Amino acid sequence: MEQKFFYILTFGCQMNERDSETLAGMLEERGYARTEDRAQADVLLINTCSVRENADKKFFGTLGLIKKLKENKPALVVGVCGCMMQQQHIIDTIKSKYSWVDIVFGTHNLHRLPQLLDNLIAEKKKQREVWPEHHGIEEGLPAHRQHSFKAYVNIMYGCNNFCTYCIVPYTRGRERSRMPEEILKEVQGLVASGVKEITLLGQNVNSYRPESAEVPDFPALLRLLNGVEGLQRIRFMTSHPKDLSEGLIQAYKDCEKLCPHIHLPVQSGSSAVLKRMNRRYTKEQYIDLVGRLREAVPNIAISTDIIVGFPGETEEDFLETLDLVNKVQYDSAFTFLYSVRKGTPAAEYEDQIPEEVKHERFDRLVEAVNTISAEKNRRKVGQTEWVLCEGESKTDAGLFTGRTPDHKLINFLPAAGPDGQPISLKEGDLVQVEVTSSNTFSLVGKAVTL
Ligand code: SAH
Ligand code: SF4
Ligand code: F3S
Repeated sequence: MEQKFFYILTFGCQMNERDSETLAGMLEERGYARTEDRAQADVLLINTCSVRENADKKFFGTLGLIKKLKENKPALVVGVCGCMMQQQHIIDTIKSKYSWVDIVFGTHNLHRLPQLLDNLIAEKKKQREVWPEHHGIEEGLPAHRQHSFKAYVNIMYGCNNFCTYCIVPYTRGRERSRMPEEILKEVQGLVASGVKEITLLGQNVNSYRPESAEVPDFPALLRLLNGVEGLQRIRFMTSHPKDLSEGLIQAYKDCEKLCPHIHLPVQSGSSAVLKRMNRRYTKEQYIDLVGRLREAVPNIAISTDIIVGFPGETEEDFLETLDLVNKVQYDSAFTFLYSVRKGTPAAEYEDQIPEEVKHERFDRLVEAVNTISAEKNRRKVGQTEWVLCEGESKTDAGLFTGRTPDHKLINFLPAAGPDGQPISLKEGDLVQVEVTSSNTFSLVGKAVTL
């Protein structure tokens, strides 16, 4: 039989990247092979994100381009899935303006893709199937992993926090936790296939609460996975400041595989804004938490997410954010302009901030954040770090690239062998690298011969 190909375009966060690995795994099980050339594809999927308006815009822009592909190749099956599909107004737009899309499914019924493909062929009719809520966790789905040496592992799905700006609770449903045995089995399997580093995924990993007496919460899960032989590094994303427990801080001390880095989204430095965001902590509580983390793990790197221009944010509120950034001294920060999301409470707030004010604050924030990042990186110069090699640098010929335990990107020269030639490295090698210089977003170094 003639080989058929699939192409997947993924927008959004790690959750979506992980979901796309499952989509790829299911298609490969059906005999399809991956292609990086859209024109070669027989099945083309777009896994969408809805977190900010520009994600929505990118999706509709891409659909417009794909229509042309479909006109050239009418047999092409176009499927759309992911977070955007969990919203009725998006489904309505697809039905009215993009009715040529063959398959529509959501985040809760990802596993139905093979069946929907079969139905499409058998019934010769469009398949639109979105489940409004989840029907439990599907275990045992195939996956084609993006990397051989590091992997994302879901520990829980959904979010119950309902921050007033955020669409995720509506697109990913209520919180549910995977059983620890399932997670352990998956991690052991990954390690057996060569994986050195895992990143545990959940919208708020602190809410991990499986029905298990032995492993009742997230710190217990970390301890369990820390015991997996052959695994080198454990990371996780994301933890909500409001319920980061003493148990988790203790886990950093007890689990040597847990990397000294935490992504701790603050969103704003103004307690008044935080209250209207429904974040359920104050500026002072957040700063206190950072202090306790640093006391327990002095070398911990801290990164964050910050939104500027949330409805009602005053200049004073914004100055509180700048003050917090200066006090916490983040290693890095993702900064976002507040984006109105239909269906969320903040979308209805009347005191929306004009675009030019948002942009002006955004620029000031980015400058403050970058100055600190550059200084933090500068302080690493002269230190020697274990680096998990991610292969050759795409930008600098002859250099390799990787991450330090505290998640800093480093490009480095390989060490020289006895013959003076560079010792070749591959993805997944752990090497000691001396930091020789620094940039705002990355480090430069040279591997050390042991
Ligand atoms: N569950 C994660 C965040 C997922 S969304 C957490 O709570 O940490 C990733 C980031 O997108 C958020 O931390 C927030 O900073 C940003 N974000 C979410 N909704 C947004 C909106 N409406 N406008 C701008 N940024 C938003
Ligand atoms: Fe969104 Fe808040 Fe849930 Fe994070 S914790 S996914 S920001 S609602
Ligand atoms: Fe992730 Fe975007 Fe959905 S950030 S959870 S893919 S809305």
